[in-house]
Amino acid sequence: MTHDLDVVRTLRVTGAAAARGSLRVPGDKSISHRALLLSALAHGSSVVTGLSLGQDVQHTRRAVERFGVRVTDLGGDRLRVEGPIRHEPDDVLDHGNAGTGIRLMAGVCAGIDGLSVLTGDQYLRRRPMERITVPLRRMGAVVEGRQRGGYAPLVIRGGGLRGITYAPEQASAQVKSAVLLAGLSARGTTTVEELHPTRRHTEEMLVQFGAQVDIDGTRVFLQPGELRATDVSVPGDPSQAAFWAVAALIGSGGDVTVDDLYTGYGRADFVQILERMGGDIVLGPDGTLTVRASRLRAVEITAADIPGIVDEVPVLALAAAVAEGTTVISGAAELRAKESDRIASTAAMLRAFGASVTETEDGMVIEGGARLRAGRVDSHGDHRIAMTAAVAAACAVEGTCVIDGWDSVATSYPRFAEQLVRVTAARAEPGE
Ligand code: S3P
Repeated sequence: MTHDLDVVRTLRVTGAAAARGSLRVPGDKSISHRALLLSALAHGSSVVTGLSLGQDVQHTRRAVERFGVRVTDLGGDRLRVEGPIRHEPDDVLDHGNAGTGIRLMAGVCAGIDGLSVLTGDQYLRRRPMERITVPLRRMGAVVEGRQRGGYAPLVIRGGGLRGITYAPEQASAQVKSAVLLAGLSARGTTTVEELHPTRRHTEEMLVQFGAQVDIDGTRVFLQPGELRATDVSVPGDPSQAAFWAVAALIGSGGDVTVDDLYTGYGRADFVQILERMGGDIVLGPDGTLTVRASRLRAVEITAADIPGIVDEVPVLALAAAVAEGTTVISGAAELRAKESDRIASTAAMLRAFGASVTETEDGMVIEGGARLRAGRVDSHGDHRIAMTAAVAAACAVEGTCVIDGWDSVATSYPRFAEQLVRVTAARAEPGE
């Protein structure tokens, strides 16, 4: 098996086998973006270890270099970032497919006295940006973009900001983070009041870099100030481990261990959901996830659950399709604004495997107990749809499945296909 499977347009996977073995997943993507951005803002030299090697994070790395920040590879998965930002970016910032990259970077650009232009690929340019342009304008930045600031490319003239109190309409860590990053250079306190609490990486890492952050329930308060360099060790990405968890649960005889995962707030709620479904799954305090094949039952997922599993819904929906009973997911309208419309693309994927799924405006209803059959799936440019389809193909379907748009997986998980073959003994090959 070669590394080249990362970049094929179409992947053919022949199962059905159980997932068995011990794995490591890439460095956490959310933490990796923030490690680069905060190191770039900070005074001094920071060493980052365990960075995600996916394309999304590589785009953030190249973007911070445009500000005159030196990033040096130290070998293995370590690099040195020498901040602070020296000047406005000397070229357009291309964030590829990365929503986190562009939205957090917009917050950084709003705080800089200078002009920045931010863009991304065809999928990213279709994702809503008003959620960040509105608060950044309120803080005093001049922000323009297609459709009056609704879509990238975005043009930002930053500097001279004032702190605001902002209550985003969506429960979104990206929006919260964009506002907080801008708030670092604003006059006065910046406050974000969340609808439902979301992942806290920005708050945790801002503190690590010397900022003053206070959290009171769903409210976050930031005082402006300079950051100081610090070293960051990026733990494994729980969202990527979720694929292996479901692979282990749904393949008969499955038994998987994933080491060194982030165990902090708001990222591993899929473990509780799979437990509620009857899964034999444990995430230890040391970050080791252990999962064994189990008979699953349906679950109800509502709005308050969503922020903690916002990236895991496609693979949880696959678990629901093989579970006993009917699973109802609601309050998940935000999924329509992800790398793809994930309600539509998840439903289409499961239907391609013969499951019965009804889409609702803000979720879906999945009839469990399906005996999945081989099918052809389109990722719609969405890495998580492609990886979920590959798990289904390897562990729950007899015969050969075809996944179009496999190359999207390189945005977050180079070597996924290689690991899938290793732990499931499924066959994976370029297809057409
Ligand atoms: C992320 C927040 C989430 C998540 C994304 C990563 C982050 O997006 O879906 O993959 O790193 O802040 P939203 O903030 O849009 O929910």
